[in-house]
Parts: sequence; structure tokens; C-alpha cells
Amino acid sequence: MHPTLLILGGTTEATALAARLAGTGIRATLSLAGRVENPRAQPIPMRVGGFGGVEGLIAYLRAEGVTHVIDATHPFAAQMSRNAAGACAALGLPLVALTRPAWTPQPGDDWRHVADIAGAVAALAGPPRRVFLAVGRMHLQAFAARPQHRYLLRLVDAPQSPLPLPQAEVIVSRGPFTEADDRALMEGHGTELVVSKNAGGTGARAKIDAARALGLPVLMIDRPALPARRELARPDEVLGWLAHSGADLGV
Ligand SMILES: NC(=O)c1ccc[n+]([C@@H]2O[C@H](COP(=O)([O-])OP(=O)(O)OC[C@H]3O[C@@H](n4cnc5c(N)ncnc54)[C@H](OP(=O)(O)O)[C@@H]3O)[C@@H](O)[C@H]2O)c1
Repeated sequence: MHPTLLILGGTTEATALAARLAGTGIRATLSLAGRVENPRAQPIPMRVGGFGGVEGLIAYLRAEGVTHVIDATHPFAAQMSRNAAGACAALGLPLVALTRPAWTPQPGDDWRHVADIAGAVAALAGPPRRVFLAVGRMHLQAFAARPQHRYLLRLVDAPQSPLPLPQAEVIVSRGPFTEADDRALMEGHGTELVVSKNAGGTGARAKIDAARALGLPVLMIDRPALPARRELARPDEVLGWLAHSGADLGV
């Protein structure tokens, strides 16, 4: 059976898998939600935008004859992961996640754990501070409830509408970032506290390493609960999984 893959992406893991598959002859489409204005060019076909919930995803998988789904979304994209699990269960399609382990604190880290964005907002009650708010554009509105702080934001795209935070400085950059750069950035802004999702992986961890080096506390937003599924860490493991599931990779 020649496989037809759907890769749910928006991450460095998905991009790495696309690069690994390019030129192998394996049919694969990379799906993006469409949150970023100019996504990086990819070496395999791409589609952009939501499917329309579980039902929409089921219809897409049927229409495209998808045989295997690889959920390579960000660990905080819990809705998409739940939809993928639901749709694959309904159709009996094999599903695997390509993901990264959560970060764990190292000596010198000063993390205060919160369960979610609401927990981070609650923890920001209190006197004004200089906060590096590294949670992405989608969640800024929640922090409007804490207007007393001076925020440093790093966003992939320049904001198209006024920010909900009265005191915010925006840096537009999609990385990758180094610990030295982030240390200089935080020192330059007098950062007193970092707010971060526990994204895991290397792409986003420079700010965590920089916070440790500077002795700064990190409000660490723990990962959301995700559906039980098999998890793999590397693109080659996905190829191994495909071969074991009876797919003829022709390579
Ligand atoms: N959350 C983060 O911190 C974060 C960080 C970096 C990158 N990303 C990437 O950004 C995207 C959106 O993240 P999110 O947290 O907003 O997701 P989410 O809350 O789990 O998903 C919300 C809805 O967006 C659509 N969607 C999400 N990922 C999609 C994909 N890869 N392809 C097509 N539709 C997708 C789906 O719409 P329908 O129900 O209409 O299908 C989904 O129900 C994901 O692809 C994720 O990998 C997220």
C-alpha cells in the first residue's frame, strides 16, 4: 500500500519531517493553521487553514485518501491534537505524534509553575514589573487584565491592530534565538520576569537559558493534557513507523 500522509504542522518538527520526506516519492501534505502571514516555503505540498472541527477533518481525510496522520503540531495546540485523535479513531487511521519532550528545570532555574494562561494572568497580580511575555500573539488579550506591567513581546508578525496591553514593546522576529542574544535582550530591557509556555525543544529555549544565566524567575505554563497517542521524536522514526504499519515506501 502506497501511503498518503497528512502532517499537521506549524512547528520545526513538521518542517524537519517535510524536509526528510522531500524527494522520497512518499505522498505527503503539510497542513498549517494559517496563523503566520508568510509561512516558510516547504519542499512538499502545503494546505493552509482549519478543517472545520473533527467532522471537517474526517471529510478531508476521506476526500484526500489519507492513509496515515502525523500530528506534528505544537504541544500547546491541544484542540488540533484532540481533533486528529478523534478523526483517526473514527476512520481507523493510524496516527502518530512527532513531538518534543517538555523542558525540565536544571540547577539554577527558578520556575513557578502555572497550569495555563489563566494561571499566568492570576500570578501576575501585584506591583508593576518588567515582564518578557513570550506566549505568542493569540493569548495577549488575556493579559489585558494586568495592565500595570511593562511588557516585552516577541512576535512572528508585526501586530495589525493595537495591542491590548498599554505598556508593551514589540520585537518582530521568528528566530532562531541564542542564549547570548536573549540575555542581552533581557538585560537591555531590565527584564524582571519571563512568562513562557513549556514548549520543549531547542527553538524556543534560549530565553529559558538566558533567564537562568541572569537569575530571573520564569512563570512556566505547563502543557495542556493531550490525547493518548504514540509519540516519536525524530523524522526517521516516523519513516520506521510507516514501514512497520505496512506502508510501501518504495525507498
Ligand atoms: N499554541 C502554540 O503555542 C503554538 C506555538 C507555535 C506554533 N503553533 C502552531 O500554530 C497552529 C495553531 O496553534 P493553536 O494553538 O491555535 O491550535 P489549536 O488551538 O489546537 O487549534 C485551533 C484550531 O486551529 C486549526 N488548526 C490548528 N492547527 C492546524 C493545522 N496544523 N492545520 C490546520 N488547521 C489547524 C483547527 O481548526 P479546525 O477545527 O477548523 O480544523 C483547530 O481546531 C498549530 O499548527 C501549531 O502547531 C502553536
